[in-house]
Amino acid sequence: TDSTTPAPERTLVLVKPDGVRRGLSGEILRRIEAKGYTLTAVELKNATPEVLAAHYAEHEGKPFYAPLVEFMLSGPVLAVVAEGQGVIAGFRSLAGATDPTAALPGTIRGDLGRDWGLKVQQNLVHGSDSVESAEREIGLWFPAL
Ligand code: TYD
Ligand code: MG
Repeated sequence: TDSTTPAPERTLVLVKPDGVRRGLSGEILRRIEAKGYTLTAVELKNATPEVLAAHYAEHEGKPFYAPLVEFMLSGPVLAVVAEGQGVIAGFRSLAGATDPTAALPGTIRGDLGRDWGLKVQQNLVHGSDSVESAEREIGLWFPAL
């Protein structure tokens, strides 16, 4: 690369415990790869209260915060770093709206999300929302990266 080549953009994706439990990890990775993004790290992990407190710091104090953290501790998550041009907005576009009942068909949450009284937190995936969030979150989940 030379000085005119932008650094490759990276994002942090989590397949949340509902996605792992339902066996959707492969389908979600398939969609990321099919879009043309590169998987640079993929690891099944158990979240910790410490990592989640940092990961969701922006939501501390909101009514959904405690149940969200509890849910994220309910089973393993698949932590993923994906790379590619525009991957941060691009993955959020693949994921669809936060609330799976509102997410459009064609999106991960729209196609695979369920609605029979589940909470919004059970929306299968997390994706970073900015370059700053992405770099911060990658450092939390993959300290070596
Ligand atoms: P947020 O960062 O707003 O959504 P996104 O995942 O689309 O970036 O919220 C973080 C998570 O918190 C979200 O994925 C699901 C959960 N959540 C709720 O449970 N209830 C809510 O009302 C909101 C806004 C989020
Ligand atoms: Mg968010």
